[in-house]
Amino acid sequence: MSIASPPATRTTQFAPRLAALLSEHTGKDAFRLEPDTMGVAGHELADRILAARRATETERPTFKPLHGRSIERNEAAAVMRVIGKDVREALERPLVRSVDLTGSWPLTGHLFLRDLILGSDPRRLRILMSRNLELTPKLTWSVIAAGAAIPRRKGARAQSSGIARLFAEAGGYHDRRYAMGIYRRAAAPVCFTVSTLVANALWLGAPFDEGTSNRNLLHEAARLLPPSWNILRYASPEYGALDARIGDRDDVLVLPLLSHRDPALWEDPDAFRPERWDHLDPDTAPGYLPFGHSSERCWGRHMVMPLAELLLDLVRGAGLEVDPAQRRAKVPLVGLLGVEDVRLVKGTAVRRGR
Ligand code: HEM
Repeated sequence: MSIASPPATRTTQFAPRLAALLSEHTGKDAFRLEPDTMGVAGHELADRILAARRATETERPTFKPLHGRSIERNEAAAVMRVIGKDVREALERPLVRSVDLTGSWPLTGHLFLRDLILGSDPRRLRILMSRNLELTPKLTWSVIAAGAAIPRRKGARAQSSGIARLFAEAGGYHDRRYAMGIYRRAAAPVCFTVSTLVANALWLGAPFDEGTSNRNLLHEAARLLPPSWNILRYASPEYGALDARIGDRDDVLVLPLLSHRDPALWEDPDAFRPERWDHLDPDTAPGYLPFGHSSERCWGRHMVMPLAELLLDLVRGAGLEVDPAQRRAKVPLVGLLGVEDVRLVKGTAVRRGR
């Protein structure tokens, strides 16, 4: 399935399984996806499922157990405070406004954020930001094991990020390996997810009307192309009690990708209309779950939004646009949903030297 977006010549090409989900189940409440998995797209049922219990440690996207060791909530919260401070400090530093953000997105945005937030970190940590490591978790863990095997030099570089200093403080091989795992888990999503969200917004709507706020652009991009397009909950007795279609052994996949396009909830659901957010509250809009459920929303969202707004400011300020020759962008079937290669070029006004 392909969905045309403005400008009307642009087509978003979903991977076949995503396209099938969209065409067969949008507007439906609950449906069987696999012999042991139910899909849920109805907003009321999704709400009840997600409110029924907290995500367990194996369901959590960021702080699932690392090298077989559970990450307690206190520790997770402490790590989030450290990376949050790194992001705040990066945002407070004077910006090089002349930075060139033309090229392929989300990669270009990813590298910009990596250099902005983690630019002074040691190479063996920065290498953990590579998007290629996404391809196979095994590769990630080999890079981590190799990096942890080299004893570190004494003392952290003064200008390193706080999250890198956690590594600098780690003692032996196992602690270094663990600290590198935490670095990958907590620092990488900042660069990955934000650049993906912004690439999606650019593809869906650029060039944007001058009066449209970055916030509205991001809410609308997260509606049509939600980076966290599914929320998994493993089988639990609570779920059968909520809906008889869900068996005791069924895992449940809540699908914001679908509820975000439910025609019963959204006017002109497939259209990119950032102005709809003038009158909608993203925290309460029924079925809108880009950052999860109100009972426990994403802990990173307060750093995601300002960073994404900064990227949009830079792109809009530099007059960049999606290459007019690019008519299609693919959305592959991966955990983080997004267009894979949006080519950003200097806009016509900039090219003419205006
Ligand atoms: C566009 C960016 C992001 C989106 C769309 C997003 C989305 C989500 C969603 C949907 C959940 C709920 C998951 C569930 O209930 O099972 C969640 C939870 C969470 N997110 Fe995010 N997230 C983003 C960025 C980040 C970043 C950058 C970080 C960390 C630096 C982060 C850290 C967390 C944490 C710690 C949780 C709580 C559960 C856990 O331990 O994984 N998120 N996020």
